[in-house]
Amino acid sequence: MKASVIAHRDFVVAEIDDRLYGAFLEHLGRAIYSGIYEPDHPTADAQGMRRDVAELVRDLKVPIVRYPGGNFVSAYNWEDGVGPREKRPTRLDLAWHTSESNAVGLHEFSHWCGTVGTEMMLAINLGSRGLDDARNFVEYVNGPTGSYWGDLRKSHGRAEPFGVKHWCLGNEMDGPWQVGHKTAQEYGRLANEVAKTLRAFDNSLQLIVCGSSNSDMPTYPEWERTVLEHTYESVDYISLHMYFRNPAKNTANYLALGEKLDAYIGAVASTIEHVRAQKRSKKRVTISFDEWNVWYHSNVQDRDILGGAKGWPHAPRLLEDIYNFEDVLQVGCILNTFIRRSDVVRIACIAQLVNVIAPIMTEPGGAAWRQTIYYPYYFASVYGRGVALRLNVRSPGYDADVADNVPYLDIAGVHSEAESTLTFFAVNRHPSETLEAAISLQGFAAARLIDHRVIAHPDLEAANTLAMPDTVTPQPGSGIVIEDGSLQARLPPLSYQLIRLALG
Ligand code: AHR
Repeated sequence: MKASVIAHRDFVVAEIDDRLYGAFLEHLGRAIYSGIYEPDHPTADAQGMRRDVAELVRDLKVPIVRYPGGNFVSAYNWEDGVGPREKRPTRLDLAWHTSESNAVGLHEFSHWCGTVGTEMMLAINLGSRGLDDARNFVEYVNGPTGSYWGDLRKSHGRAEPFGVKHWCLGNEMDGPWQVGHKTAQEYGRLANEVAKTLRAFDNSLQLIVCGSSNSDMPTYPEWERTVLEHTYESVDYISLHMYFRNPAKNTANYLALGEKLDAYIGAVASTIEHVRAQKRSKKRVTISFDEWNVWYHSNVQDRDILGGAKGWPHAPRLLEDIYNFEDVLQVGCILNTFIRRSDVVRIACIAQLVNVIAPIMTEPGGAAWRQTIYYPYYFASVYGRGVALRLNVRSPGYDADVADNVPYLDIAGVHSEAESTLTFFAVNRHPSETLEAAISLQGFAAARLIDHRVIAHPDLEAANTLAMPDTVTPQPGSGIVIEDGSLQARLPPLSYQLIRLALG
């Protein structure tokens, strides 16, 4: 099977925002406790943070991490997580039916962000709480000393403001499962008042209003229109979420879900334009896709805890999806979609980062390892910075549940002028045929191959586990030929490829 691609230096989508490779950490299961934080662990630093986990995160070059939820945030009192640890209350977490010790809160999380070289993106509780708490929280985090909240922060050991720029105005407020769920009208009005108030404190804050929890929500896409009509001039981003699943074990349909993601982004981009036109506004709101990942492997085993049959356990094993090789292909396609839509998707956060539907897993007291999906995320984050190319792709396709003529070749291209490199991320979705891809390189200086990695495995269900952490790993690729401005590659059936070229 053959496919052809034209990559022209001048055909660009946008400069990719580094924040496209963000992540998310929630007080949920073992994401925090025995995930990033485990004071008794042999690698723990003076603050109790696991150095082995921090190292794996640092390698990913995660630019921003959303925290502390998620559904958790909608009944969270941020004050519980600051001040002397011995005085912090243990609370019942209504979102996940667990107990929250509050041993980790804002200050500890900020320390961790410093050690892994990332920035905090904080979510505000607009479920059980409202305007006043939002205002107090932002003043505590960013306000000057000499004021009540700034002085309180100082008394907790931090005189200097944290300087957090990104603020999520609630979480999934369209979801009936959310504590404090609201209609679009109720939420839009509240979010606008909160945004106005936060702007009165600091007009330069980056504010993210909740869009739909997924594109199957009955309120989608009216939700986006209504919420943006209320908030258009006071926010910067609208947040979208989507999780991918394959319970039917239908690989073709599963790997076509990128088309659904693309349609979702396209519809919300159009809704943004609709409201912008209605408002006669110059301003451009863009998308923060601040929760995305595969999430379904752990659904059955989680039922007891979520249903309350286990009481209120602290940091139990929840949402611990064990990812397989098939999920590598899916995550590769998702990231390619974000790169191709980087004109409108400016922020995206893999949900989540450690233990809970995560690329990194840990054993309490033991090892930390990379799940299969760590690798496509790593490659995109490390090598997917620069300008996204508008590739012209001709590939045979197949009909799936969510779309017809889904191209077997899923590909994204990134040109980094600063590094003089051209990088392609490619997935062959065909179950049995090798794809012979010809990529015509136009307008670029002479290219030479500097890296070619392949992720492939005969078993779609192969996974990396504590006992076998390296079952699915990238391997050196072979067979790429670059001649007369054309790159020829043979992509094995159901494989992921990273192809990097040096220019000039
Ligand atoms: O990431 C897990 C959960 O998924 C989040 O808490 C929630 O926002 C979403 O429904």
